[in-house]
Amino acid sequence: MIKFIGNQICEISLKDWKVVLQVVDGRVIKIFDGPINEEYQTCESVAEDIHAYYPEIISSYGHIDYRESLVYIEDNNTFFTNRFIFNKWEQIVKQDDTEEFPHSRNKYETLRITYLNEAKTVQIEQFISVYNDEDTLVSNISIKNIGNTPIRIKRAMSLQLDIQDDGYKIMTFTGKWAHERHITNNEINYGTFKNSSICGASSSFNNPATVVYKDNKYYLMNLIYSSNHMELIQTTHNNTTRALIGMNDFMMDIPLEKNQSFTTPEATLTFGLDINMMKLNSNHFIERHILRKIDFPIIFNSWEGLSFGINRDNWKKLAKLASQLGCNIFVFDDGWYGKRNDDTSSLGDFYLYEEKMGTWEEINSCLENYKIGLGIWVEPEMVSPNSELYRSHPEYALETPNIKPVLGRNQLMLDFSNPKVVDHVYSTLKELIEKAHPRYIKWDFNRLVTEVYSLTSKGGNFFYEYEKGLYHLMNKLVSEYPDIIFEGCASGGARFDLGILYYFPVIWTSDCTDAKERIYIQEGTNLVYPMSCISNHVSCIPNQQTGLKSSLEDRINISLFGRYGFELDLVKENKADILTLKKSVEYYLKRKELIINGDTYYSYQNDINIKCWVTVNSDKSEALSYVASLNSPDRLVKFVGLDETTLYSISFRKQTNIEEEVVPPLTGKELMEKGITLSHLFMENDSEVNETKIATRVIRFKKVK
Ligand code: DGJ
Repeated sequence: MIKFIGNQICEISLKDWKVVLQVVDGRVIKIFDGPINEEYQTCESVAEDIHAYYPEIISSYGHIDYRESLVYIEDNNTFFTNRFIFNKWEQIVKQDDTEEFPHSRNKYETLRITYLNEAKTVQIEQFISVYNDEDTLVSNISIKNIGNTPIRIKRAMSLQLDIQDDGYKIMTFTGKWAHERHITNNEINYGTFKNSSICGASSSFNNPATVVYKDNKYYLMNLIYSSNHMELIQTTHNNTTRALIGMNDFMMDIPLEKNQSFTTPEATLTFGLDINMMKLNSNHFIERHILRKIDFPIIFNSWEGLSFGINRDNWKKLAKLASQLGCNIFVFDDGWYGKRNDDTSSLGDFYLYEEKMGTWEEINSCLENYKIGLGIWVEPEMVSPNSELYRSHPEYALETPNIKPVLGRNQLMLDFSNPKVVDHVYSTLKELIEKAHPRYIKWDFNRLVTEVYSLTSKGGNFFYEYEKGLYHLMNKLVSEYPDIIFEGCASGGARFDLGILYYFPVIWTSDCTDAKERIYIQEGTNLVYPMSCISNHVSCIPNQQTGLKSSLEDRINISLFGRYGFELDLVKENKADILTLKKSVEYYLKRKELIINGDTYYSYQNDINIKCWVTVNSDKSEALSYVASLNSPDRLVKFVGLDETTLYSISFRKQTNIEEEVVPPLTGKELMEKGITLSHLFMENDSEVNETKIATRVIRFKKVK
């Protein structure tokens, strides 16, 4: 709720958190942020004093504040001295007006603050939106040229969080291909910490989600955008902390003619008194205000099983077995189109490779017989130099004249900043959809930007224009085909961000399906993003990415926590394992509602080599916990998130590699405070395949009536 007290104070009340702003001497100062019932004091005046840095919500160059600024604008008259001064504020209702750019849905109230530079040539509107029952707010800005001469935007970020003390820690979600979103903790004592990407994707290296925390204050910032982003956390000599998040200003140079404006993507700021509260607040916000609601099926994907060797004989055998497992969709991953037999050709030629695969009629009638739906993989933003598309339209590719382009996985990127290219890709996909009638589409993106020469947009606004083209296309397809289920993917999880999630509510989390590596990837991902968008598949051993073996049960246990599916050649699996997989589907389906819609809490054990999370339903009568020992000698596990006074029955998912064990019922308090010792429950009898040296269990707690 947004409430003005007189002309100068504005209280922004969230669920359990409150932010209070005050206008003092033309600046908007954040005089309080903290638990909703705490008292705050107002501020008398702002001294333009180098020793007195006030917590502001917007900053620009030109004040005696030499910290990083939210905006830098090159103005013909005053050149970089922007010095924005408060003009007015009002409460508005901000409509979900355009689907052409991703944004938070169903805003409750929005505070619009208008600022003008001293020369009155540039206006900034800052929007801060709140939602019913969320501890997240959203902020962005819109810059307008109201002068007579052109201006250029050199930096335009979306959210500023100033805190009046220092000593904060920073948590980021970092990694690389097959190793995405590992939790990384950093401490800054003095200076500026930067988390960012410049590769034209939110990236597997640095996810935009960034946590700034200390004691019982957790601030999680995130960006509703899929390209270059930047998060700056700065502490200075006067013991303050400034956090900024927004588009990266790398190469940024956005011209604005008279009366033109530029609006930044929305950034989110989620509060929490501890890490689990922050996590749940973030998960809930994304679930309720970013994702589209869908019923996501159980996917069987051809990639790890058949790879480019997919053909009409092997896919038929696999699809039949997939259907017998209980899967709903069989996905033709890479290799079904053009003349694609390896990664050196055909991207862009998304028509069926009939000699290899059969016709669409044959495919659809066969899948119908097996009672499994059709899924198709595409990579619409790419082109192979060896393709019909490149031969007929070389100008559609991103290449700099007279310079040898960098190839990534033998492919070039298409210039999505050019509307003609986007229109062409739209027609290709539309034709494919009309012919094949897929129920599901996986949208991949396997290389990053290296060439920024475009026929239509110059370097300075290329990345933003590219993203606009991408979102335009995604929006067009999801609106025209609302029944098709889309899954995002970028060499695994290199674009796991709120921009993609706005259109595609599930993302392929990582190409690494190794049972151990996956624990870190899923833990990091779920700390920010809800379980419902995390896609997990059971694959074969040795794992194709790590080369390591782990038991089938360990691979199942970790995959159950998210959108469950498979990618392995079932023809090569033995009957007992296929039966185990089939039973795992039944187990998952019985608990899907709890897994997808429950609240997942992390239990931090004394031994960091014991991992445990607990997914609890809304009345806490049922929970499902994942426990893993990463070769730890310790066997004590304490749980979290349960109701203290409820007595819970304890049942372990039946595993073929462990003898069944009965543990008598315990109260939530006992489970959380004393825990249980899982000594013999971790004794696997197939340890010879367990090269990852992990032992895992899925435990169900159910209220005893
Ligand atoms: C990368 C994806 O992450 C994989 O799942 C698979 O689709 C391959 N691309 C196909 O080229």
